[in-house]
Amino acid sequence: MIKKCLFPAAGYGTRFLPATKSMPKEMLPVVNTPLIQYGVEEAFEAGLNQIAMVTGRGKRSLEDHFDISYELEREISNTDKENALKGIRRLIDNCTFSYTRQIEMKGLGHAILTGRPLIGDEAFAVVLADDLCLNPGGDGVLTQMVKLYNQFRCSIVAIQEVPPEETSKYGVIAGEAIRDDIFRVDRMVEKPKPEDAPSNLAIIGRYILTPDIFDLIEQTEPGKGGEIQITDALMKQAQAGCVLAYKFQGQRFDCGSAEGYIEATNFCYENIYKAELERQRRKPLEAVELKETSVA
Ligand code: G1P
Repeated sequence: MIKKCLFPAAGYGTRFLPATKSMPKEMLPVVNTPLIQYGVEEAFEAGLNQIAMVTGRGKRSLEDHFDISYELEREISNTDKENALKGIRRLIDNCTFSYTRQIEMKGLGHAILTGRPLIGDEAFAVVLADDLCLNPGGDGVLTQMVKLYNQFRCSIVAIQEVPPEETSKYGVIAGEAIRDDIFRVDRMVEKPKPEDAPSNLAIIGRYILTPDIFDLIEQTEPGKGGEIQITDALMKQAQAGCVLAYKFQGQRFDCGSAEGYIEATNFCYENIYKAELERQRRKPLEAVELKETSVA
Protein backbone atom coordinates (compact mmCIF):
# COMPACT_ATOMS: atom_id res chain seq x y z
CA MET A 1 0.00 0.00 0.00
CA ILE A 2 1.36 3.42 -0.91
CA LYS A 3 0.94 5.89 1.95
CA LYS A 4 3.52 8.59 1.22
CA CYS A 5 3.45 11.47 -1.18
CA LEU A 6 6.45 13.71 -1.81
CA PHE A 7 6.08 17.33 -2.87
CA PRO A 8 9.25 18.88 -4.27
CA ALA A 9 8.60 22.53 -3.38
CA ALA A 10 11.95 24.22 -3.18
CA GLY A 11 11.92 25.95 -6.60
CA TYR A 12 12.08 29.72 -6.89
CA GLY A 13 9.05 30.18 -9.15
CA THR A 14 10.85 32.75 -11.29
CA ARG A 15 8.13 32.58 -13.94
CA PHE A 16 5.75 34.26 -11.49
CA LEU A 17 7.92 37.12 -10.33
CA PRO A 18 7.26 39.52 -8.75
CA ALA A 19 4.40 37.60 -7.01
CA THR A 20 6.82 34.89 -5.90
CA LYS A 21 9.54 37.21 -4.63
CA SER A 22 8.68 36.58 -1.00
CA MET A 23 5.86 34.03 -1.36
CA PRO A 24 6.28 30.37 -2.38
CA LYS A 25 4.85 29.68 -5.83
CA GLU A 26 3.02 26.72 -4.28
CA MET A 27 0.96 29.21 -2.22
CA LEU A 28 -0.42 31.01 -5.28
CA PRO A 29 -4.20 30.77 -4.99
CA VAL A 30 -6.36 29.28 -7.70
CA VAL A 31 -9.62 31.05 -6.79
CA ASN A 32 -9.38 30.75 -2.99
CA THR A 33 -7.19 27.70 -2.49
CA PRO A 34 -3.39 27.55 -2.77
CA LEU A 35 -1.92 25.22 -5.39
CA ILE A 36 -0.25 23.04 -2.79
CA GLN A 37 -3.59 22.34 -1.10
CA TYR A 38 -5.09 21.01 -4.34
CA GLY A 39 -2.09 18.66 -4.56
CA VAL A 40 -2.43 17.44 -0.96
CA GLU A 41 -6.19 16.95 -1.45
CA GLU A 42 -5.48 14.82 -4.52
CA ALA A 43 -2.98 12.74 -2.51
CA PHE A 44 -5.35 12.33 0.43
CA GLU A 45 -8.18 11.27 -1.88
CA ALA A 46 -5.83 8.59 -3.25
CA GLY A 47 -5.28 7.25 0.30
CA LEU A 48 -1.85 8.87 0.74
CA ASN A 49 -1.90 10.60 4.08
CA GLN A 50 1.80 10.83 4.89
CA ILE A 51 2.79 14.04 3.22
CA ALA A 52 6.48 14.82 2.77
CA MET A 53 7.67 18.16 1.45
CA VAL A 54 11.06 19.20 0.18
CA THR A 55 11.12 22.91 0.79
CA GLY A 56 13.79 25.59 0.77
CA ARG A 57 14.54 29.07 1.99
CA GLY A 58 11.51 31.35 2.10
CA LYS A 59 9.00 28.50 2.18
CA ARG A 60 7.88 28.64 5.81
CA SER A 61 4.32 29.59 4.89
CA LEU A 62 3.86 26.09 3.45
CA GLU A 63 4.35 24.63 6.92
CA ASP A 64 2.09 27.23 8.48
CA HIS A 65 -0.66 26.49 5.96
CA PHE A 66 -0.81 22.86 7.11
CA ASP A 67 -1.11 23.80 10.75
CA ILE A 68 -3.78 25.22 13.01
CA SER A 69 -4.13 28.99 13.18
CA TYR A 70 -5.59 29.38 16.66
CA GLU A 71 -6.18 33.11 16.71
CA LEU A 72 -7.87 33.21 13.32
CA GLU A 73 -9.93 30.13 14.04
CA ARG A 74 -11.17 31.50 17.35
CA GLU A 75 -12.04 34.77 15.65
CA ILE A 76 -14.29 33.12 13.06
CA SER A 77 -15.64 30.27 15.17
CA ASN A 78 -19.43 29.97 15.03
CA THR A 79 -19.66 32.17 11.94
CA ASP A 80 -20.33 30.96 8.41
CA LYS A 81 -16.68 31.81 7.60
CA GLU A 82 -15.68 28.59 9.36
CA ASN A 83 -16.81 26.72 6.25
CA ALA A 84 -13.91 28.13 4.29
CA LEU A 85 -11.44 26.26 6.52
CA LYS A 86 -13.22 22.90 6.46
CA GLY A 87 -11.14 21.53 3.56
CA ILE A 88 -7.77 22.42 5.04
CA ARG A 89 -8.81 21.24 8.54
CA ARG A 90 -9.78 17.86 7.09
CA LEU A 91 -6.26 17.53 5.68
CA ILE A 92 -4.58 18.68 8.89
CA ASP A 93 -6.68 16.27 10.96
CA ASN A 94 -6.08 13.26 8.73
CA CYS A 95 -2.57 13.63 7.34
CA THR A 96 0.92 13.86 8.81
CA PHE A 97 3.33 16.41 7.37
CA SER A 98 7.09 16.20 7.39
CA TYR A 99 9.58 18.58 5.85
CA THR A 100 13.16 18.73 4.79
CA ARG A 101 15.09 21.44 3.01
CA GLN A 102 16.91 21.32 -0.29
CA ILE A 103 19.92 23.54 0.29
CA GLU A 104 21.02 23.87 -3.33
CA MET A 105 18.78 23.70 -6.40
CA LYS A 106 20.26 20.92 -8.48
CA GLY A 107 17.22 19.69 -10.36
CA LEU A 108 14.07 17.63 -9.81
CA GLY A 109 15.99 14.37 -9.44
CA HIS A 110 18.12 15.94 -6.73
CA ALA A 111 15.01 17.34 -4.98
CA ILE A 112 13.45 13.87 -4.92
CA LEU A 113 16.69 12.37 -3.58
CA THR A 114 16.67 15.05 -0.84
CA GLY A 115 13.31 13.60 0.26
CA ARG A 116 14.77 10.12 0.75
CA PRO A 117 15.02 10.31 4.57
CA LEU A 118 11.29 11.18 4.70
CA ILE A 119 10.32 8.29 2.42
CA GLY A 120 12.60 5.39 3.36
CA ASP A 121 12.36 2.07 1.58
CA GLU A 122 8.83 2.09 0.16
CA ALA A 123 7.03 3.09 -3.02
CA PHE A 124 5.75 6.65 -3.00
CA ALA A 125 4.02 9.24 -5.13
CA VAL A 126 5.45 12.56 -6.30
CA VAL A 127 3.31 15.61 -7.03
CA LEU A 128 4.58 18.77 -8.70
CA ALA A 129 2.05 21.22 -7.32
CA ASP A 130 2.23 23.67 -10.20
CA ASP A 131 0.76 20.98 -12.45
CA LEU A 132 -2.83 21.19 -11.24
CA CYS A 133 -4.74 18.02 -12.12
CA LEU A 134 -8.50 17.86 -11.78
CA ASN A 135 -11.11 15.32 -12.70
CA PRO A 136 -14.37 16.57 -11.19
CA GLY A 137 -16.90 13.77 -10.75
CA GLY A 138 -14.28 11.05 -11.31
CA ASP A 139 -11.15 9.64 -9.68
CA GLY A 140 -8.27 12.09 -9.22
CA VAL A 141 -5.11 11.42 -11.22
CA LEU A 142 -3.17 10.00 -8.24
CA THR A 143 -6.10 7.71 -7.37
CA GLN A 144 -5.99 6.38 -10.93
CA MET A 145 -2.23 5.87 -10.68
CA VAL A 146 -2.36 4.15 -7.28
CA LYS A 147 -4.88 1.67 -8.72
CA LEU A 148 -2.47 0.95 -11.59
CA TYR A 149 0.46 0.60 -9.19
CA ASN A 150 -1.48 -1.98 -7.18
CA GLN A 151 -1.86 -3.96 -10.38
CA PHE A 152 1.64 -3.55 -11.93
CA ARG A 153 3.93 -2.79 -8.95
CA CYS A 154 6.44 -0.64 -10.84
CA SER A 155 7.18 3.06 -11.33
CA ILE A 156 4.54 4.98 -13.29
CA VAL A 157 4.63 8.44 -14.87
CA ALA A 158 1.54 10.36 -15.93
CA ILE A 159 1.61 11.54 -19.54
CA GLN A 160 -0.44 13.60 -21.92
CA GLU A 161 -0.21 14.39 -25.61
CA VAL A 162 1.22 17.83 -26.31
CA PRO A 163 1.61 19.75 -29.56
CA PRO A 164 4.94 18.64 -31.14
CA GLU A 165 6.41 22.16 -30.85
CA GLU A 166 6.07 21.98 -27.04
CA THR A 167 8.21 18.89 -26.38
CA SER A 168 11.10 21.05 -25.16
CA LYS A 169 9.11 21.93 -22.02
CA TYR A 170 8.74 18.32 -20.84
CA GLY A 171 10.23 14.92 -20.31
CA VAL A 172 9.04 12.91 -23.33
CA ILE A 173 8.57 9.14 -23.49
CA ALA A 174 8.26 6.47 -26.12
CA GLY A 175 7.27 2.85 -25.65
CA GLU A 176 5.04 -0.01 -26.54
CA ALA A 177 1.31 0.39 -25.85
CA ILE A 178 0.13 -2.42 -23.60
CA ARG A 179 -3.35 -0.90 -23.30
CA ASP A 180 -4.98 2.14 -24.99
CA ASP A 181 -3.81 4.33 -22.12
CA ILE A 182 -0.67 2.53 -20.85
CA PHE A 183 2.79 2.35 -22.41
CA ARG A 184 5.79 0.32 -21.32
CA VAL A 185 8.52 2.94 -21.54
CA ASP A 186 11.64 2.19 -23.59
CA ARG A 187 12.85 5.76 -24.22
CA MET A 188 12.72 8.89 -22.15
CA VAL A 189 14.30 12.23 -22.98
CA GLU A 190 14.29 15.38 -20.87
CA LYS A 191 13.08 18.45 -22.76
CA PRO A 192 14.00 17.39 -26.29
CA LYS A 193 13.76 19.74 -29.27
CA PRO A 194 10.79 18.73 -31.44
CA GLU A 195 13.13 17.13 -34.01
CA ASP A 196 14.76 14.98 -31.31
CA ALA A 197 11.57 14.03 -29.45
CA PRO A 198 10.73 10.31 -29.52
CA SER A 199 6.98 11.13 -29.51
CA ASN A 200 4.61 13.85 -28.35
CA LEU A 201 3.78 12.03 -25.08
CA ALA A 202 4.89 14.40 -22.33
CA ILE A 203 5.42 13.57 -18.67
CA ILE A 204 3.36 15.74 -16.34
CA GLY A 205 3.95 16.29 -12.64
CA ARG A 206 2.59 13.02 -11.21
CA TYR A 207 4.81 10.03 -10.56
CA ILE A 208 4.72 6.82 -8.59
CA LEU A 209 8.23 5.65 -7.85
CA THR A 210 9.61 2.45 -6.40
CA PRO A 211 12.35 3.10 -3.83
CA ASP A 212 15.20 1.71 -5.97
CA ILE A 213 14.90 5.06 -7.78
CA PHE A 214 16.96 6.70 -5.01
CA ASP A 215 20.12 4.68 -5.78
CA LEU A 216 19.54 5.29 -9.48
CA ILE A 217 19.32 9.05 -8.90
CA GLU A 218 22.55 8.88 -6.92
CA GLN A 219 24.22 7.31 -9.94
CA THR A 220 22.75 9.86 -12.35
CA GLU A 221 25.08 12.52 -13.76
CA PRO A 222 23.79 16.04 -14.31
CA GLY A 223 21.84 16.12 -17.59
CA LYS A 224 19.73 18.77 -19.31
CA GLY A 225 20.49 22.23 -17.95
CA GLY A 226 23.31 20.81 -15.79
CA GLU A 227 20.67 19.44 -13.39
CA ILE A 228 20.08 15.95 -12.02
CA GLN A 229 16.99 14.86 -13.88
CA ILE A 230 14.42 12.36 -12.61
CA THR A 231 13.74 11.54 -16.27
CA ASP A 232 17.32 10.21 -16.67
CA ALA A 233 17.07 8.08 -13.50
CA LEU A 234 13.72 6.71 -14.69
CA MET A 235 15.26 5.81 -18.04
CA LYS A 236 17.79 3.65 -16.17
CA GLN A 237 14.95 2.06 -14.23
CA ALA A 238 13.08 1.36 -17.47
CA GLN A 239 16.18 -0.33 -18.95
CA ALA A 240 16.73 -2.46 -15.86
CA GLY A 241 13.10 -3.42 -15.26
CA CYS A 242 9.85 -1.68 -16.01
CA VAL A 243 8.44 1.84 -16.04
CA LEU A 244 4.92 2.53 -17.23
CA ALA A 245 3.52 5.73 -18.69
CA TYR A 246 -0.18 6.36 -18.13
CA LYS A 247 -2.48 8.64 -20.11
CA PHE A 248 -4.67 9.83 -17.27
CA GLN A 249 -8.34 10.83 -17.23
CA GLY A 250 -8.95 14.47 -16.37
CA GLN A 251 -7.57 17.93 -16.99
CA ARG A 252 -4.10 19.23 -16.28
CA PHE A 253 -3.23 22.89 -16.03
CA ASP A 254 0.33 24.19 -16.17
CA CYS A 255 0.04 26.70 -13.36
CA GLY A 256 3.71 27.60 -13.79
CA SER A 257 2.63 29.63 -16.84
CA ALA A 258 0.32 32.64 -16.82
CA GLU A 259 -1.97 31.07 -19.47
CA GLY A 260 -2.32 27.77 -17.59
CA TYR A 261 -2.87 29.60 -14.32
CA ILE A 262 -5.70 31.69 -15.76
CA GLU A 263 -7.28 28.64 -17.41
CA ALA A 264 -7.09 26.78 -14.08
CA THR A 265 -8.65 29.73 -12.27
CA ASN A 266 -11.56 29.89 -14.69
CA PHE A 267 -12.05 26.13 -14.57
CA CYS A 268 -11.99 25.99 -10.77
CA TYR A 269 -14.29 28.98 -10.45
CA GLU A 270 -16.89 27.37 -12.73
CA ASN A 271 -16.55 23.74 -11.67
CA ILE A 272 -15.49 23.77 -8.02
CA TYR A 273 -15.98 27.14 -6.35
CA LYS A 274 -19.47 27.90 -7.72
CA ALA A 275 -20.60 24.32 -7.14
CA GLU A 276 -19.48 24.56 -3.49
CA LEU A 277 -21.25 27.91 -3.02
CA GLU A 278 -24.42 26.40 -4.46
CA ARG A 279 -24.10 23.38 -2.14
CA GLN A 280 -23.76 25.65 0.88
CA ARG A 281 -26.66 27.81 -0.30
CA ARG A 282 -28.88 24.73 -0.60
CA LYS A 283 -27.82 23.22 2.72
CA PRO A 284 -30.08 25.31 4.98
CA LEU A 285 -32.93 24.86 2.48
CA GLU A 286 -32.44 21.08 2.47
CA ALA A 287 -32.42 21.07 6.26
CA VAL A 288 -35.77 22.92 6.28
CA GLU A 289 -37.19 20.59 3.60
CA LEU A 290 -36.08 17.58 5.63
CA LYS A 291 -37.67 18.95 8.77
CA GLU A 292 -40.94 19.61 6.94
CA THR A 293 -40.92 16.08 5.48
CA SER A 294 -40.37 14.53 8.88
CA VAL A 295 -43.16 16.67 10.42
CA ALA A 296 -45.50 15.64 7.59
C1 G1P B 1 9.75 18.70 -14.71
C2 G1P B 1 10.38 17.43 -15.30
C3 G1P B 1 9.82 17.14 -16.69
C4 G1P B 1 8.30 17.09 -16.63
C5 G1P B 1 7.74 18.38 -16.01
C6 G1P B 1 6.24 18.28 -15.79
O1 G1P B 1 10.19 19.80 -15.46
O2 G1P B 1 11.77 17.57 -15.32
O3 G1P B 1 10.32 15.92 -17.16
O4 G1P B 1 7.79 16.92 -17.95
O5 G1P B 1 8.33 18.62 -14.73
O6 G1P B 1 5.71 19.48 -15.33
P1 G1P B 1 10.04 21.32 -14.93
O7 G1P B 1 8.69 21.78 -15.41
O8 G1P B 1 10.16 21.28 -13.45
O9 G1P B 1 11.15 22.07 -15.61
